Amino acid sequence: MQGLNTAAPAVIRIGRNGAHGRGMTSLMTRRHDPIAKFIRWFDDVRRLKIPNYEAMALATTASDRQPSVRFVLLKGIDQRGFVFFTDSRSRKGRELRANPRAALAFYWQPNGRQVRVEGSVEQVAASEANEYWATRPRQSQLAASASYQSARLRSRASLLARVTRLAKKVRGREVPRPHGWLGFRLRPEAIEKFTSARETTGGAGCCSRRGTCGGEGLCEATIALTVMRIVTRTAT
Ligand SMILES: Cc1cc2nc3c(=O)[nH]c(=O)nc-3n(C[C@H](O)[C@H](O)[C@H](O)COP(=O)(O)O)c2cc1C
Repeated sequence: MQGLNTAAPAVIRIGRNGAHGRGMTSLMTRRHDPIAKFIRWFDDVRRLKIPNYEAMALATTASDRQPSVRFVLLKGIDQRGFVFFTDSRSRKGRELRANPRAALAFYWQPNGRQVRVEGSVEQVAASEANEYWATRPRQSQLAASASYQSARLRSRASLLARVTRLAKKVRGREVPRPHGWLGFRLRPEAIEKFTSARETTGGAGCCSRRGTCGGEGLCEATIALTVMRIVTRTAT
């Protein structure tokens, strides 16, 4: 088992042009570091120009133990973990308060790669949230400020009226970040990378190896044979 390398933290932001930031190049060259491996894969999908490649499924659990899942965007990554931003009054925000543990899953179809991450969740510093908030388009800031995420929409007209009122109120100045709009960091305790048989066998479909599933795609037996599975657990 490998531990997460905590030396010399690099700070990497995910923007419109992919991941960039201080220390990224040196981080990417650390061969056995699971975060570095993730960033290399992430850079591959950026270069493939996969739409929404930074989208990740985020699973949380309510206090009644009912799990829920939705997509959010990965907005930062460093040795500490995976950062996303949301309205903390939302369902996910409430669930993370009740149980600050979560799981993430990425899937990039063109190269059949999946990454799963599990760990604990903490709030990022207000300065980090402010920094990201400042990069958002004004219209998104207004919409996020005027709405309650996960709340039932009573009427579209009343929501639009709230956005318009707010736009007038803050005309000519910056839209302040709402107190409840926060960043969260999932600190990984386990990272699993999975790649399709097609990729590991250089283009062969699964059935060329086992012939048991009777068609294109992946069958269980082939996955068991050829999947590249890297599980890193740091929890004791
Ligand atoms: C591709 C994609 C990216 C999204 N990114 C975010 C995000 O970064 N933050 C966020 O709060 N919601 C994001 N959403 C909306 C969430 O999936 C979800 O609908 C919303 O946050 C409410 O979720 P909840 O009620 O479970 O809290 C995204 C949706 C999609 C489809």
